[in-house]
Amino acid sequence: MKALVLGSAAGGGYPQWNCKCPVCALFWQKDARVQRRTQSSIAVSQDGSTWVLLNCSPDVREQIAANPALQPKTGIRHSPISAIVLTNGDIDHIGGLLSLREQQSFTIWASAAVIAQIEANPVFGVLDRKHVTFLAISPKVAFSPLPGIVMESFDVPGKVPLYREGEGTPEVTRNGNTIGMHVRADGKQLSYVPGCGAIDAQLLQDLQDTSTLLFDGTLFSDDEMISSGTGFKTGRRMGHVPVSGKDGSCENLKSLRARKIFVHLNNTNPLLIDASPERTMATAANWTVAYDSMEIDP
Ligand code: MLT
Ligand code: MN
Ligand code: ZN
Repeated sequence: MKALVLGSAAGGGYPQWNCKCPVCALFWQKDARVQRRTQSSIAVSQDGSTWVLLNCSPDVREQIAANPALQPKTGIRHSPISAIVLTNGDIDHIGGLLSLREQQSFTIWASAAVIAQIEANPVFGVLDRKHVTFLAISPKVAFSPLPGIVMESFDVPGKVPLYREGEGTPEVTRNGNTIGMHVRADGKQLSYVPGCGAIDAQLLQDLQDTSTLLFDGTLFSDDEMISSGTGFKTGRRMGHVPVSGKDGSCENLKSLRARKIFVHLNNTNPLLIDASPERTMATAANWTVAYDSMEIDP
């Protein structure tokens, strides 16, 4: 099995187009300690010729251009991408589907809740159902989106997408809106969890057999959006458990044996800065930070 990080940043990417927070400011100043990152997605393959995307970001065109494995190989129309698996209905994870509307056949696998969100939005009608098939997945029911690869989802604490929040404060619960995905091939198990609102005993049990974990690294500190002046919500309110702190991922995932990699980094996260104190802390806790086009051999 091969895995390729297509986009290591959260929604908005890094830098975010309109942001001069301290971390984005480094990029605009051409600081060598930071690198550009596109929005949240990975690709996996068993044979290197056919690939499944996990999430489809608004940057998918650029990600295909940056990764030769995903480029057309044969005939007039071809794509090595034959399936797409979605872990939630957030814009950074589904927006790129609109760019794949050119009569290419592929299958989209997602929870019934996420398929319903997509079906409710007429703009996704541009995905011609003669070519694009939606298939619902259920937690703990294995499916095979590509020969040689078996996946199995598990519900994680999450909330409805931002564009569906409406009035009031949405609950962060296991409600089918956010799933994690086990990817199994060649006797290995990679687990992909780009969004997760809390770490509990159930999650630890779900991740017990994982050899490589790609986990939600959106915010380093729960109050990072507030302290950087970029927002009013805590990470938990956004459905993202922070990296640091006593409830954070570094502390609470330390019993896992897996190789641990942060993905879905928000543009405010100081983990984006090479050799920052926060990066040094994460490295000491056996975490690495994903970067675009990172190749992972689970
Ligand atoms: C998230 O991960 O919380 C969402 O992608 C936020 C958004 O939709 O911008
Ligand atoms: Mn996101
Ligand atoms: Zn920023």
